[in-house]
Amino acid sequence: MNKRIATLAALASAFLAQTALAGSDPLAATGQWSVNARGSAPLPPMGWNSWNAFNSDVNEEKVMASAQALVDSGLAAKGYRYVDIDDGWWLQRRMPDGRLLIRTANFPSALTPDGGTSFRPLTDRLHAMGLKAGIYSDIGRNSCGQAFTSTFANQPQGSVTEREVGLYGHAGQDIALLMGDWNFDLIKVDGCGIRAMGPDNPTVKSGQYRALQPLVDYDTLPRTDIPASRALYEEVAQALAKTRPDNSYVFSICLWGAADVRSWAKQVGNMSRTSEDISPNWERMLHNFDSSVRRELYAHPGSWNDPDMLYVGTGAFDMGHPVEARSHMALWAMLNAPLIIGYDLRKMTPALLDVLGNPRLIALNQDAAGNQAVLAYDSDTVQILVKTLGDGKEKAVAIFNRTNAPVDAVLTAAQLKMLGDADITLTDLWSGITTHLKGEQKLQLAPHETLIYRASGARAHPEGLYLSEQPARVNPAVDGVVEPEADPLIHRGTIPWSSTRGGGQHPQYAGWGGARADATPYGQALKVGGKPFATGLGVLANSRIEVRNGGFRHFSALVGMDDSARTRDTPLTFAIYGDGRLLARSKPLPFGAAPFRLEANISGMKIVELVVIGRKGERYPAVATWGEAVMDK
Ligand code: GLA
Repeated sequence: MNKRIATLAALASAFLAQTALAGSDPLAATGQWSVNARGSAPLPPMGWNSWNAFNSDVNEEKVMASAQALVDSGLAAKGYRYVDIDDGWWLQRRMPDGRLLIRTANFPSALTPDGGTSFRPLTDRLHAMGLKAGIYSDIGRNSCGQAFTSTFANQPQGSVTEREVGLYGHAGQDIALLMGDWNFDLIKVDGCGIRAMGPDNPTVKSGQYRALQPLVDYDTLPRTDIPASRALYEEVAQALAKTRPDNSYVFSICLWGAADVRSWAKQVGNMSRTSEDISPNWERMLHNFDSSVRRELYAHPGSWNDPDMLYVGTGAFDMGHPVEARSHMALWAMLNAPLIIGYDLRKMTPALLDVLGNPRLIALNQDAAGNQAVLAYDSDTVQILVKTLGDGKEKAVAIFNRTNAPVDAVLTAAQLKMLGDADITLTDLWSGITTHLKGEQKLQLAPHETLIYRASGARAHPEGLYLSEQPARVNPAVDGVVEPEADPLIHRGTIPWSSTRGGGQHPQYAGWGGARADATPYGQALKVGGKPFATGLGVLANSRIEVRNGGFRHFSALVGMDDSARTRDTPLTFAIYGDGRLLARSKPLPFGAAPFRLEANISGMKIVELVVIGRKGERYPAVATWGEAVMDK
């Protein structure tokens, strides 16, 4: 660690110590909700970004025309408000004062009378149109374009130092400029500068750029400096809070699932990329979808999983492929992904507008409860996702055919957690047509098709809501993962930009072993002492889950060590806390023991915490199950 990083890491741990109110034991109940409260993203942000439409060849005319198209098409009124300028806007860092300069050849309105530059005229215009403005930077000294693609249009110019346009060493100054003086409302902070500028990079060797020892080894998790990477993003979060103390901003972390960002982004940013870049092809969409779909408990109002921008309108998702375009849109809506359009809106067609502007899909993505969909059925062929809407009376359900062959599927009332002997109304979100289901319904899916419905019926458990139905209220503050492991369930298509060169796809997106709804942390069905549970939370030992209580009076669960536990020699103790006070505790429960009923009165309590204690220091902690975990009225 160099000195600067060491100082930042020290700052970050001081911050952590401050926020961990209960002191050093991470399993001690705090009575707090620890998801990021800074910035403003109560719902997934929606808008447009220049990258997938124009790459780095971006200019004022294109940005303003896209903004105008958002307004004229009615998409802005439907919620697509952010207009985000991605890579390619900067000219250089002025020396000696370090102020960033805009490429005025492309952004003429940015030229100020004193010969300087300002984006204020542009953001003023966007704001006057009722829109919000977003900008792009990098956490290192250099941008992704500089690091990887010297042929990109609009590379920064000047000396080595003048071309250091990233935030590294300038976070306070740049955030004050971009988000203060220039009045942007969103900043996307990429990570190439801490990934790719090592001494071996040819551009560094040739003296074009200064070396920065990489903190992120994208191909090797254990060689990545997770605390130092986090500390840099934390420094930006603090600068943002200082520049915009009214919280009127979105901090978009773009670390592509590296540096175990899953475990800390929800305390630092408002949205966080879960994978490498999407491309307009089916396999890549699967890859990005998979990187978010099993992280339902890691997305909450204020901090969302970001599987990358929408590619609806392009390539495999163009209007020659309406089934695929609709699937992509439906899946992103179900994931509570930020809906950021990446299409040249000047070429908008009515058919495309019908996909991007479908009010029923937007409504479910923007549902106030903020629940990411949970997998009710999982396989490599068909997946069924269920997203609880509002107060739980309604659900959205998507039945997704991943394959390029037609398949038959069955949707059951049980998957919706609804009664099988009463009528369930299904409203098709594309056609608006209503059908009815009793017990189960056979469905036929065309290749790549996603059927998506709103479902209402009689809840199987009318007294309350299962925790797995309200992931927005469930935060694995400590999920028990000791050794970050790459998630093996992510589709590994051929990477379009490298084809089959090299040895294959080995994505290192940590997340394996994280807490899950209705599944164990390793993707098994929940089961304790031979008793299977269709619903519950799966987590590791030595974990603490925060639950926001929305006026419920009673918590109960059937708990125990899961039958799938790899490490099983030390019994687990389960405890429930309410606003920091112990409410109930199990006896130590050994492997194989029957599930134990743990319950508590939680009336009037704001935060319920669910703690599992096992043997400390275990590299692969036991799997713990909160079976049928439920809060009742
Ligand atoms: C990275 C990001 C993309 C885009 C480009 C710009 O690849 O992941 O979303 O911002 O950089 O260079």
